Amino acid sequence: MSTATLLLKGREYELPVIEGSEGETAIDITSLRAKSGAITFDPGYANTGSCASAITFIDGEKGILRYRGYPIEELARQCTFVEVCYLLIHGHLPSPAELIAFDAKLTRHSLIHEDMKKFFEGFPPSAHPMAILSAMVASLSAYYPNSGDSELNIIRLLSKAKTIAAFSYKKSVGQPFIYPRNDLTYTQNFMHMMFAVPAEDYVVSPAVDRALNLLLILHADHEQNCSTSTVRMVGSSGANLFASISAGICALWGPLHGGANQHVIEMLQQIRESGQSPRAFVERAKQKDSGFKLMGFGHRVYKNFDPRATILKKAADEVLASLGMRDPLLDTAIELEQIALTDPYFIERKLYPNVDFYSGILYRAMGIPTNMFTVMFALGRLPGWIAQWKEMVGDDKTRINRPRQVYAGNTVRNIETLEEALAMTV
Ligand code: SDX
Repeated sequence: MSTATLLLKGREYELPVIEGSEGETAIDITSLRAKSGAITFDPGYANTGSCASAITFIDGEKGILRYRGYPIEELARQCTFVEVCYLLIHGHLPSPAELIAFDAKLTRHSLIHEDMKKFFEGFPPSAHPMAILSAMVASLSAYYPNSGDSELNIIRLLSKAKTIAAFSYKKSVGQPFIYPRNDLTYTQNFMHMMFAVPAEDYVVSPAVDRALNLLLILHADHEQNCSTSTVRMVGSSGANLFASISAGICALWGPLHGGANQHVIEMLQQIRESGQSPRAFVERAKQKDSGFKLMGFGHRVYKNFDPRATILKKAADEVLASLGMRDPLLDTAIELEQIALTDPYFIERKLYPNVDFYSGILYRAMGIPTNMFTVMFALGRLPGWIAQWKEMVGDDKTRINRPRQVYAGNTVRNIETLEEALAMTV
């Protein structure tokens, strides 16, 4: 076992060094406070490993992303989202028999309890679908309270989330809910529930169905990002699967995280409607006090191209061409990217397009409204959150997550008596 030596206030402390399966090096500080009385300080956790995980590997410098060892490029090209769900949760790609059984369970559990439909009546039509999704997912624990059925609850969650998402869209447009059908695949069912109406069925085109599978696969997991860390944080207290995932949905909603895909499209529309050049917006993004960021750019881990953005940029082109569509926002996005990637500010900070920069173009081409974009991200990320929660719950070394702090407040002081206070004023 190799070690790291810490010299602190004249004393040396030996700390174990652990190596990941891809050669990553970590200093194990689990004994640091007991040995030295000191803690580490890492706001935003940019240098802190919260767990050991066998699910997803990212090399941010090389732009590598693998789920259970498989490169994202291969999974995106050769698999369906349901196969990737199985891979992330069970650790291997399903055999034909395993896939048939898994798919049948997902189909069978697509309905939500009829009473849950009443929840939708309480939401205003303007309710953001992420508010509905997080509330409804947490409420699933009221209908399936027995956390002992974790495998069944995993199936229920994976399957019902797409129904809840589609119902939240129908609620927002004032249309009747369309029930899932047993003769459709996971993605076909979702699009059917989104866009069919009682008077007219909806059959998703193969190009759009392929694009939806691709989008969901690319979002399926991303190691210890903000929302996944939230799922682990909440789950570490012993909270049930539904409560833990609901917390992850809320974390994903933030504009710096999964909410960015909605903000990217709004930014591109703002650029086009402003009459100003994309260059003007790039310049604004460089001004700290402007409060404006280039949404869809930058990443805590990727200091090279986000491989998902590369795949999505190509897919956006292909899907629009196959649908005979043009989207001026794609032209604006490509122009923005070309300007930013040659600008010293972005080059020095290694700011590249991330997964959110092009995903909205595809969602738009599929007819999905902007306020549903982060829900789409959540549907994709669901198997990853579930796999990470399951890995954490199954790890006998898991302890409740409880970080320490550096206290920066008042030192001890006592409440002045009235006499002391009066004496001070004389
Ligand atoms: C996702 O973690 C994951 O894996 C997340 C995710 C996943 O799959 O789960 O990949 C999904 O959340 C992608 C990110 C989506 N968010 C956005 O696109 C929002 C815009 N991006 C930024 O807010 C930012 O880049 C973050 C939040 C993504 C990363 O933030 P960091 O790592 O804390 O970096 P930082 O804010 O410290 O930025 C470093 C520098 C700063 O400038 P300086 O202080 O050094 O002068 O780069 C600048 C920042 O001001 N910067 C930007 C910028 N992003 C960073 N400047 C302009 N526009 C931007 N988008």
